[in-house]
Amino acid sequence: MTSFKPVRKAVFPVAGLGTRFLPATKSVPKEMLTIVDKPVIQHAVDEARAAGIEHFVFVTGRNKAVIEDHFDIQVELEQTLRERNKTDALELLAASLPPAGQTSFTRQQSPLGLGHAVWCARNIIGNEPFALLLPDMVMRDKKGCMSSMVELYNKTGGNIIATEEVAWEETHKYGVVETGKEVAGGFEISGMVEKPPQGTAPSNLFINGRYILQPEIFDILSGHETGAGGEIQITDAMLKLAKEQPFYGFRFTGRTFDCGSKEGFIKANVAFAMWQSDLAEDLRPELEELLKEKPPF
Ligand code: UTP
Repeated sequence: MTSFKPVRKAVFPVAGLGTRFLPATKSVPKEMLTIVDKPVIQHAVDEARAAGIEHFVFVTGRNKAVIEDHFDIQVELEQTLRERNKTDALELLAASLPPAGQTSFTRQQSPLGLGHAVWCARNIIGNEPFALLLPDMVMRDKKGCMSSMVELYNKTGGNIIATEEVAWEETHKYGVVETGKEVAGGFEISGMVEKPPQGTAPSNLFINGRYILQPEIFDILSGHETGAGGEIQITDAMLKLAKEQPFYGFRFTGRTFDCGSKEGFIKANVAFAMWQSDLAEDLRPELEELLKEKPPF
């Protein structure tokens, strides 16, 4: 069996402005907004760790320093918890922390687009395949989307894109793939279209924010070509790379919440709370009641 260079590093682009959450995101990065009790970014890092990722690369921007603090120990807090014998809380903190020396933070000095943010990680990634996780997309299933993708990659090599079914009427809002032959539980990607006009989508599988990419993507991104919205787009670079290298699709069948939008973020909070038995019991009747109520103003 052929063995491919392992996927050891993951990139988390977190330099976006998060304008859809203003004024909350004026001083708090949107990646630090919480889903129940865990920041959005922690969900993506946990998913990457479960997939065997060893090095976590954050592409940050101004006002994002708190993300770096979140992935460090908090000496005074831990001291106090120890004095108070709060072992559960201490264990929780330890479990959420990648091991020392396995995180890197680099700055995207201007938010020139997702493709540019990924390019900013080039020196830390070097010449090896890497995982790319958009933290806004919070996903939940038994195994973890990235774990399944790494499993597929270990059979196929190349580049992997996670996809997910969406209603056909919604395809014009997303990047959509064209499907080729089935391979190793995934499929060959024979084309990609960004926001296809209604009725023209080649499939109803949209690109949902998880990728495994080969380092040659950096050579393409170094051209700094702008696309939609005047931004440097990762999809444009992938389309170019697909002319030289194979791309495979993974079908994710769990639940995804787009926490970059208010609606998705609120849905994620409700869903994660309802999936937590200690909260669900009290919350369910209250939510049912709330839905019947008129606003008190
Ligand atoms: P979004 O398209 O959601 O943009 O970025 P945004 O700026 O974060 O949010 P809004 O639209 O203003 O509310 C998708 C992902 O790409 C990252 C974001 O942090 C997010 O994870 N990103 C985007 C960058 O890191 N740099 C960029 O220049 C643009």
